[in-house]
Amino acid sequence: MAFGTETVYGLGGRADSAAAVAAIYAAKQRPAGNPLICHYPDLESARVDAEFGPVGLALAAAFWPGPLTLVLPRAPGCRIAANAGPPDTLAVRVPGHDAARALLRAVGVPIAAPSANPSGGLSPTTAHHVLAGLGEKIDAVLDCGPCPVGIESTVLNLSGPYATLLRPGRVTVDEIEALIGPLGVPGDEVVRGPGLLGPHYAPRAALRLNALCATAEEGFLAFGEGGRAQGPVFQLSTRGDLTEAAARLFTGLRLLDDIVLRRGLSDIAVMPIPNEGIGVAINDRLARAALRT
Ligand code: TXA
Ligand code: MG
Repeated sequence: MAFGTETVYGLGGRADSAAAVAAIYAAKQRPAGNPLICHYPDLESARVDAEFGPVGLALAAAFWPGPLTLVLPRAPGCRIAANAGPPDTLAVRVPGHDAARALLRAVGVPIAAPSANPSGGLSPTTAHHVLAGLGEKIDAVLDCGPCPVGIESTVLNLSGPYATLLRPGRVTVDEIEALIGPLGVPGDEVVRGPGLLGPHYAPRAALRLNALCATAEEGFLAFGEGGRAQGPVFQLSTRGDLTEAAARLFTGLRLLDDIVLRRGLSDIAVMPIPNEGIGVAINDRLARAALRT
């Protein structure tokens, strides 16, 4: 069943059931090597499956419930099915969304939930987006309203010799470093998120980044003032607010993608987004979407 979180909608299934985990991979057509995040209603329940250590506990105390995923060593009694991820580590998160946590508390088992989209596509931020992408493949979607953050959680690897960022999100590197000190630079010695490399989050249309104007043959994803477009426009935030832009990013890309394909336009031109705060995560998703072609 799909459900909303503060970041994006997830496609949830029992993480302790190999059959449920296999059904998630099948519905999304997700490559088997790309592991799933396990979701919990609180820190206590997550500690059954993962070894936190002092750094993990400090981060959980500061940012949970909220949009931060921690990759940790598995606990000895870990209940998670073998096909949900690597044998030694586990990605865990406590979502900052009341309906999601109520659901997780009611089911009483860890819930594996990747974003509820066909693999490689744009993450869904409304129940309608979920149905558009996976409607034929899933039993139900719990409509939790539009996701307030709108961009997937920050993923931090704490399973290696030092903490490294695997995916930028609403919780920024500055906020994390203020608490635990400088992060390491990911290298060969640390686990990298297999799904975090290369093209991802792709609309069907091509993207042209850092564009200040768009021709009549292009859709235009605008941010703030100063852009000029002759074709269809989606404004991420008139007042140039990055938080608002993140919440509207995937909806805007979907709408422009549909229009570009329907009208036979050439691509989506995207205005520059300041690379600060959650803007880092927005630019990460846009860069991956643009890699597609
Ligand atoms: O905001 C979110 O995190 C959403 C909501 C539904 O919680 N979920 C989400 O899941 O974005 P997904 O599967 O689309 O992205 C999870 C990322 C993947 O790229 C995966 O490679 C990485 O986290 N990941 C999961 N387990 C990992 C592990 N054990 N080690 C390294 N990376 C891992
Ligand atoms: Mg995803």
